[in-house]
Amino acid sequence: MTAGPAQIKACCAAAYSGDAVALLLGESYHPGGLALTRRLAAALGLSPGQRVVDVAAGPGTTARLLAAEYGVTVDGVDLGQATVARARADAAGAGLSGRIRFHHGDAERLPFPDATADAVICECAFCTFPGKQAAAAEFARVLRPGGRVGITDVTVTGDGLPRELTTVTAWAACIAGARPAQQYADTFTAAGLQITGQERHDAAMARMIGQIDARVRLLRMTAAGRLADAGIDADTVLRYTALARQAVADGLIGYRMLIGEKPSTMP
Ligand SMILES: C[S@@+](CC[C@H](N)C(=O)[O-])C[C@H]1O[C@@H](n2cnc3c(N)ncnc32)[C@H](O)[C@@H]1O
Repeated sequence: MTAGPAQIKACCAAAYSGDAVALLLGESYHPGGLALTRRLAAALGLSPGQRVVDVAAGPGTTARLLAAEYGVTVDGVDLGQATVARARADAAGAGLSGRIRFHHGDAERLPFPDATADAVICECAFCTFPGKQAAAAEFARVLRPGGRVGITDVTVTGDGLPRELTTVTAWAACIAGARPAQQYADTFTAAGLQITGQERHDAAMARMIGQIDARVRLLRMTAAGRLADAGIDADTVLRYTALARQAVADGLIGYRMLIGEKPSTMP
């Protein structure tokens, strides 16, 4: 049976709220980690005092980095209730709750007024949105004229993925819902945003898959109980990582940074 949009969203939010993802991915839930976040921030030209919206902010690692290193204020939004609670607690723990707020909400209906953000970022999450055009329209709506959008995301070629990488679990793992880079660009263009830059980061995708694979193997040998407590079946994860690693090697899956701008006058 094919999963509907509501099921996909609920599955993604639940998957990223649990302990399993933190155990396998660490603090940053996207390929390239904080290094790629800094590269994204540089491409957006962030400067102190600006207001950034982080869509699908996850555990808030990016929001804390941007507030601490770039002096911006950040409004993060995520669909996972537990994820938002954790992000709020971590921001408070870092003494940053004055400059970061986390909101529970959907990327396709952002809880912010029109034209109030200097930048919108979205890391490794646009691919999971069933309503990509609705989300892109929301990014454009909340951006001020001249504001910038930056995403980093999983891409696929049009050649089709192995069937196991198209299930709802694979959707939560950011693969089944991924699209060719050109489709992301077209989606933003249709929302009235101008694409100003693109970079390929396929090696970061391969590294992240390798990292998950290595962690699962290590934990299976040294701390099988932690895997079980987090509800992780090592064999299932390793089957996915093998398929995903092969798909990256075959050029079927990649990772891309896209930068866009809201024109000063919208068409
Ligand atoms: C791969 S994680 C990325 C988290 C964060 N951007 C990062 O890079 O660390 C995907 C996140 O998207 C969130 N998410 C999925 N669908 C969403 C939606 N429709 N609206 C808001 N957040 C969503 C999930 O709850 C999860 O925290």
